[in-house]
Amino acid sequence: MKSALTIPTGPDARSLPSRKEPARPVAQPPSSAQSVTPWLVVVLVVVLFSGGLFGYDQGVISGALHGIKATFSLSALLVEVVTSWVTLGALLGALAAGELADRIGRKRTVLVAGALFTLGAVVQALAPDTVVLVAGRLIIGAGVGVAAVAAPLYAAELAPAAVRGRFVSAYQLAITIGIFLAYLIDGWLSKSDAWRVMLGAAAVPGLLLFAVAVVAPRSPRWLMKMGRRSDAAAELTKIRPGVDPKPRLDAIETALRQEGDRASWAEVFHRQWRRPLMIGIGLAVFQQITGINAIIYYADQIFASAGFASQSAQTMATTWAVGGVNVLATLIAIAFIDRLGRRKLLLAGLIGMAISLVAVGIAFRFIVPPAAGAAPAGPSAAGIVTLLALVGFIICFAFSMGPVVWTVINEIFPGHIRGRAVAVATAVNWGSAFLVSQFFLTLIGAMGNSLTFWMFALFCVFAWIWIYFCVPETKGQSLEQIQQLWKAVP
Ligand code: BGC
Repeated sequence: MKSALTIPTGPDARSLPSRKEPARPVAQPPSSAQSVTPWLVVVLVVVLFSGGLFGYDQGVISGALHGIKATFSLSALLVEVVTSWVTLGALLGALAAGELADRIGRKRTVLVAGALFTLGAVVQALAPDTVVLVAGRLIIGAGVGVAAVAAPLYAAELAPAAVRGRFVSAYQLAITIGIFLAYLIDGWLSKSDAWRVMLGAAAVPGLLLFAVAVVAPRSPRWLMKMGRRSDAAAELTKIRPGVDPKPRLDAIETALRQEGDRASWAEVFHRQWRRPLMIGIGLAVFQQITGINAIIYYADQIFASAGFASQSAQTMATTWAVGGVNVLATLIAIAFIDRLGRRKLLLAGLIGMAISLVAVGIAFRFIVPPAAGAAPAGPSAAGIVTLLALVGFIICFAFSMGPVVWTVINEIFPGHIRGRAVAVATAVNWGSAFLVSQFFLTLIGAMGNSLTFWMFALFCVFAWIWIYFCVPETKGQSLEQIQQLWKAVP
């Protein structure tokens, strides 16, 4: 890709010097201001619940599908609709959330997410037919989309600088824990096929999120943006007792002045910001079209076609090989993202993902479906290879394209367009997730298992080449330094 930028990418990016943060225009807060106070723990709980619900609502459908299919005798198309329309709701929710977070504030936007999670869970659990069920999926999806934009924004604005990275990473970790818990609950309830309980269970943490968000502090940065300095001072004193809020408020004021007014949508798409926007959107698309949610959503069915005949064997494989491994491997990213850098993790992860997907495709060539009426014989050697290759894929995704994509999306945009630009990238991410989950079974039907997984592998290769040449390393640079890079555009 041709570019007039002087940003080192490709081999040169490795030699990008790690510079120190430039001096701030106002005094730094004392170190006590960096400690985690009880109110910040409340903020962390909000973030964990938001991410956890996001993951739970994504993961739960994998095990609930058996029972839903039996209750409503769904066609393949309706199975895809019930599965994937949560992502369509998330797309709409994400687009609305940027605007909402600016208008009614971060905390109230999280409250809206909590209400949507609870309402969506109840509607799904009580659904008398497929139409109401799909409406419930859309509502809960909207909750996921609103939370996906509002919670990291809320965390980033309230956490002290020294722990901000961990607060935002905790969000991705919570997503994986939510998916894992969903699989566990699916497993416990699989015998009774209680899909209504599986889907309705999200109402409890949804209500808890709502309750915690009611008492959680408001974002002083948002209050300042609204011109409410004394309210902002009161919140800061509450969050960090004993610390003079004035220097922090002055710093926010200076930053807000430098950022200028909130950008229009035209500004978000201005050619000056085209490069970061392309990077954000490109990463969002590649995160999805390399196949993660085809596996997260349809894991049980993939294991079923790989010879895991009983439902409990499928649920076990999904819970531990996909859900458990996803949580553990995300910890690798949290440990290494600031040490090794974003590019190394992305490039290494994509190689592992591609190899794993090629292996899954090859294994499927050797899987012979049991003859009609024959007793299930358990997974063959090819079935075990599929399982191991999927574990490899999940590990590689979880330390690279999962958390790193969200980190980069949240750090490349300048402050005045960040809210809207992140909302655009998030919506594109959900749009891509929607296409993949909507058409995965159709693709398998049309092209077969092997070609479908090889297609995902090919997208990993495209992603690798594009990241190698177009995505700069941002490790160790302040947000201001990253923004300077885009100024080189004529
Ligand atoms: C992705 C989700 C995915 C999850 C899996 C997230 O980063 O955005 O689509 O389901 O990772 O852990």
